[in-house]
Amino acid sequence: MTLTKTLTHWYSINKRAMPWRMTKDPYKIWLSEIILQQTQIKQGLPYYEDFVTVFPTVFDLANATEENVLKLWQGLGYYSRARNLHASAKYVVDNLDGRFPDTYYDLLKLKGVGDYTASAIASICYGLPTAVVDGNVYRVLARYFGVQTPINSTEGIKEFKIIAQKLIDKKNPGDYNQAIMEFGAVQCKPNSPDCSVCPLKTECKAYKKGMIGVLPVKLKKTKIKKKYFNFVIIISDDGKTILQQRKGKGIWQNLYQFPLIESDKKLSIQLLKKHSDFQKLIADFSEVNLFNNEEIIHKLSHQHLYTRFWVVQTKRLTDNAIPISKVKDYPVPVLISNFIETFHFNQS
Ligand code: ADE
Repeated sequence: MTLTKTLTHWYSINKRAMPWRMTKDPYKIWLSEIILQQTQIKQGLPYYEDFVTVFPTVFDLANATEENVLKLWQGLGYYSRARNLHASAKYVVDNLDGRFPDTYYDLLKLKGVGDYTASAIASICYGLPTAVVDGNVYRVLARYFGVQTPINSTEGIKEFKIIAQKLIDKKNPGDYNQAIMEFGAVQCKPNSPDCSVCPLKTECKAYKKGMIGVLPVKLKKTKIKKKYFNFVIIISDDGKTILQQRKGKGIWQNLYQFPLIESDKKLSIQLLKKHSDFQKLIADFSEVNLFNNEEIIHKLSHQHLYTRFWVVQTKRLTDNAIPISKVKDYPVPVLISNFIETFHFNQS
């Protein structure tokens, strides 16, 4: 049997009875698919039931207050989904006389409806051959075909969509789509699936190669760190300032900068003055002024630098001070050179 046939056959025997599987009403399928993007079938079921009870038609949802929609959504998280649901219901009622779009591309015009939801509605309600790809589908396909392309890479997203599209049962695309998702949720589970009872085990590449545990491959998204940079521009009455060379590794290695005080949160002027690095840096000053209240956010690949520049006036600078007129001769990060360009040093 082909993969498609095995999956749809498996589904006909093993599918869980769900209320949205007894209807082709696009409003209800849309509700169920938006809810199921947020949670698993078991947890999503009571939410679906509440929504169709309180808002049995798209008109009821469109006429609801946002507060009521959010209240029903409460606990599912990601509240923009609920707001999009409400906005799309209003759009369908106000612009389409309450009739749901019936093509993949028209469905995509609804707020909150992307490739996945448009494919699901188009196939389940209108019998169109549009393949869905969700986490379950990625897992089944990656394992069965032994595909190692990361599922969250641009190539992976393309590659898996093409595979899914080739497999779709053109006569029954809605059942095929639900079959592969259900198979992923029930049989081809993420952790320790029971492959001994799997109807695909003789063909499954991952099973044959012992790669069930490593497929699908997902790229780790590096978490972006937020850092608070306070550059201190010390200006002496005789027109000098301090630049320091950056040491250690990093993209700014060996470049110059005004003395930097890193903090784990936004500093007030009082906190800055009390900061031990600040006190070490300058003991005697007459004035401290903040140059930019609004932080400049400098985005690097792994970190975002929330940057503010503090201007400190002092009588004298002794060691390592350089004349302000020389500042522009030093190699500095672009963040600093932008500051130098906008800040008008008083070169008295
Ligand atoms: N996950 C999300 N939608 C689904 C559906 N219609 N069938 C099975 N699993 C799903």
